Amino acid sequence: MKKINGNFYRKSIISIDQFEKEDIAIVFKTATQIKKGLEKGNVFTDLKGKLLTALFYEPSSRTFGSFIASMQRLGGGIIPMHGMQNTSVKKGETLEDTIRVFASYSDVIVMRHPETGSVAKASRVSKVPIINAGDGIGEHPTQGLLDLYTVSTHFDLAKPLTIVMVGDLKYGRTVHSLSKLLTNYNQVKIIYVSPKELNVPTKITDYVSQRGVVFKQTTDFKAALRQADVLYMTRVQKERFDNVASYNKVKDSYILDLNKLKSAKKKMIIMHPLPRINEIATDVDNDPRAVYFSEQMKNGMYLRMALLKLILS
Ligand code: NCD
Repeated sequence: MKKINGNFYRKSIISIDQFEKEDIAIVFKTATQIKKGLEKGNVFTDLKGKLLTALFYEPSSRTFGSFIASMQRLGGGIIPMHGMQNTSVKKGETLEDTIRVFASYSDVIVMRHPETGSVAKASRVSKVPIINAGDGIGEHPTQGLLDLYTVSTHFDLAKPLTIVMVGDLKYGRTVHSLSKLLTNYNQVKIIYVSPKELNVPTKITDYVSQRGVVFKQTTDFKAALRQADVLYMTRVQKERFDNVASYNKVKDSYILDLNKLKSAKKKMIIMHPLPRINEIATDVDNDPRAVYFSEQMKNGMYLRMALLKLILS
């Protein structure tokens, strides 16, 4: 796994471990330029003649859709492989062989897979860069980046900031990537709110504390909510549980509604990587603090356009 070190050209994006603060700044600056350009109605042709394969072994709406949109908005083309059960995988083809196939057709592969570490494994046999679009309960670096980008459009990351992450912190890969990213800003404080069964992995808390960021773990949602500048809600990841009973036990642990929101700060922002199941009541959607539909998703496209442009041109 190569460090970015200010140069994204032809590099795979596997983990946030590859990024330093300066690299994050480059992506954000590029994303903002692209956002401004799109808002002015500019048409981009930076990736004309380039092809992206989207190789998705797990369900996806936003990540898949926004990568496809991003490539096309940059003038490039796509090979959309969704529902891998309909491909040669069904006949028994290995991940490595599938990667060799699409690396020979395209210039970049965006891949989602249920196994942690699978994208790193794929990148070792690939002749073209691979972008991790979620590897099981591991990481989801592009979601982490778009989440942090959204935070940075509301708050100065160099100033004190409390971010409260709620829900399935054990299996939620977006929480893992975002936590790692936040360690680049030493004024940030993280409060993790989850039922004990879904605590954030020690691998992540060790990383966070080693890099000098203060964090707290609690089950008390109400108390944490009062302190939040950023509230990051997540879905309980049903598909990662061994049995339905253990999922049912924790699935409705924390639900945000308008009543609970009364105690929150006026300038707080409410985020969610989506899909939302029932952890945010729908009447919260119209609260001015809610940015999951109004900003976060679009930022995902700007951010992914920025990354593709930096990697491919
Ligand atoms: C997330 C994921 O796939 O990890 N979704 C996404 O990419 N926006 C979160 C989730 O599925 O809960």
